[in-house]
Amino acid sequence: MPIRPAAAHDTDLLRQVLLEAYNWDGDRRFTAEQLAADPHATRYLEGWPQDGDFGVVAETGAGEPVGAAWARCLPEDRPGYGYVAPGVPELTLGVLPGHRGRGHGRALMRALIQAASGRPVPVPRLSLSVEGGNPAVRLYTSLGFVPVGRNGGSDTMVLDVPSRMSRAAGGRPGSRP
Ligand SMILES: CC(C)(COP(=O)(O)OP(=O)(O)OC[C@H]1O[C@@H](n2cnc3c(N)ncnc32)[C@H](O)[C@@H]1OP(=O)(O)O)[C@@H](O)C(=O)NCCC(=O)NCCS
Repeated sequence: MPIRPAAAHDTDLLRQVLLEAYNWDGDRRFTAEQLAADPHATRYLEGWPQDGDFGVVAETGAGEPVGAAWARCLPEDRPGYGYVAPGVPELTLGVLPGHRGRGHGRALMRALIQAASGRPVPVPRLSLSVEGGNPAVRLYTSLGFVPVGRNGGSDTMVLDVPSRMSRAAGGRPGSRP
């Protein structure tokens, strides 16, 4: 399953994915128009890609995009739901309906974590927000994210990004080199 870096021309896909993340429980609680008018939602994507943003896109073998994950640092005075500290990017993840349950979500997360450790200035931590009841929490936990707080009905989770050195040395994620 091919994964490539997310680029400026992926904005529409990322907007679709953001809508899926907001509508994770299948109830279609939000429309695209509502999200476009919601300043909390637009901050995850406005001006994509800005300095410091990074992301990945999953595609079918035929090159059709099926999901994405990206990370952005939001400022303390305009934080995201999963804000923990300045300089800790918050990630957004989603796989389009009809393509779930085939490993794309896990592959996207692995690629995003690898991209974080491979940045010119490696990103030591990633955060996210996951609403209570979303089974995605199992994916995050299995990748090493731990809950660090609660924001409304959502958990904030953080991952200490494994350094490239520890991987090259054969270390487990999170192990010290
Ligand atoms: C969460 C999501 C990205 C996972 O992507 P996916 O391609 O379906 O996931 P994968 O096939 O890679 O499976 C990864 C893990 O996801 C977990 N998982 C996620 N959603 C699940 C669901 N609805 N039911 C069961 N397990 C689920 C499982 O633990 C699975 O673990 P496994 O690999 O041991 O089976 C996808 O279901 C999605 O886009 N959901 C709606 C948007 C959303 O919730 N985004 C996250 C917001 S915090």
